[in-house]
Amino acid sequence: MSFQPNQIKQLAQRFPSDFTFGSATASWQIEGSSATRGASVWDDFAAVKGNIKDGTVADPACDSVNRYKEDIELLKYLGVDTYRFSVSWPRVYDFKNDKPNQEGLDYYSNLIDGLIEADIKPTLTMYHWDLPSELQEKGGWQWSGITDEFEKYAELLASNFADRVDTWATLNEPWVVSFLGHATKIHAPGLGDPRAGFISAYYQMVAHGKAMRVLRAHNANRAGTVLNLTEIITDFESCTDAVKHVDNLQNGIWLDMLSGRGISEFTKQATGEFTDWSFVNEEELKLASEPIDFLGINYYTPNRIEPAEDVQEFIVGQEPEVYPGTRDVRFVSREPKSLMGWEVRAESLTNTIRATAKALPGVPLMITENGGAFPDEIDGDEVHDPQRTDYYFQHLSACADAIDEGIDLQGYYCWSLMDNIEWAEGLEKRFGIFYVDHSTQKRTAKDSAKFIRELLASR
Ligand code: BGC
Repeated sequence: MSFQPNQIKQLAQRFPSDFTFGSATASWQIEGSSATRGASVWDDFAAVKGNIKDGTVADPACDSVNRYKEDIELLKYLGVDTYRFSVSWPRVYDFKNDKPNQEGLDYYSNLIDGLIEADIKPTLTMYHWDLPSELQEKGGWQWSGITDEFEKYAELLASNFADRVDTWATLNEPWVVSFLGHATKIHAPGLGDPRAGFISAYYQMVAHGKAMRVLRAHNANRAGTVLNLTEIITDFESCTDAVKHVDNLQNGIWLDMLSGRGISEFTKQATGEFTDWSFVNEEELKLASEPIDFLGINYYTPNRIEPAEDVQEFIVGQEPEVYPGTRDVRFVSREPKSLMGWEVRAESLTNTIRATAKALPGVPLMITENGGAFPDEIDGDEVHDPQRTDYYFQHLSACADAIDEGIDLQGYYCWSLMDNIEWAEGLEKRFGIFYVDHSTQKRTAKDSAKFIRELLASR
């Protein structure tokens, strides 16, 4: 461990008293119980052999539909202020019979009530990638009608939960949906078509804007969205153009749409070989810049670029194809790394927060996900995860550095509350601060959970 026990208290005291600490999960990754909901693109994707490394499917995941009360106990143990969970769209709306699924709505309603009872503020993400299969059949995020469907979905959620949810996030990481799910085949729906990547980027952001209007109409307490943003770095001058290009696709296009800058000339030129953006309707595009109360940043690792070589390192989600139009470079990462191949570099988090605050002036920021897949050493009833604990210490310090600079950073959520289905990587990559024994569903606090508990208790 790179820090001393007395430094935990010092770290805790670097955060203002109204700073919000939480932990996060997502529906498809933890819920299980797929028989009581409709199918999503992730069920369809998981059904194809080879798409998910270890053949993991939606069931049982962490069986959280049945164990949500136990999960609230984990949050109470940590002493967090808030819990960020996502709603499974096909659990609350039955597309086969074209009507809401009351059992699904009740599940989230009970979860929300249970959180409030435990004095934990609910943070609800509307869309964390599990698009209903029926909507994918209509074209999914490439279909212009999808934004109206999302608006109806927002209406359903807001009319049921706006009285009780503290914080709303419309989308989670539209970049991943566009570039891992549409431009390439790494995630669902697995299209492998760069043009589809750009269309889906646009419709997701328009859908976000429509949902924001619905949330306002329901007087939602606090509403915004979540992007995965990061710093793109290189030591090579020959890579500066590639850095600019990757930076634009990772950060620029989303922040441009959110801030009302629309689709920039730079973007149009850089993506001209794939699309002329003729699907953009200026009126609709304006919706993407509906005012937000906060922007959530999910941060894990920087992207490091070097001149191309034959060997591509193992770094989940980082390869030239996921940034269409990237040429002559490769992605690399330096030690220390997580099991995802992701470089651990906390200063890139401070730099990302600073760059985002500059690109989106006046918008409060939150770190809505941060954490890592690291080895866990099981020792009786204890689980030692010094690398993850260290990661949290360093990255929380990096957040405090941003606050010291005067940036309006209001919250931080650990990803993830518990080991879960790490999408195409399956069950093998564990991000939890609670260890989950996938055969018994037993949850055990890892040392990192104890660290978070101590940190929060030292405030
Ligand atoms: C996602 C999570 C995911 C995590 C680690 C984020 O991209 O929002 O669902 O598990 O990163 O890969």
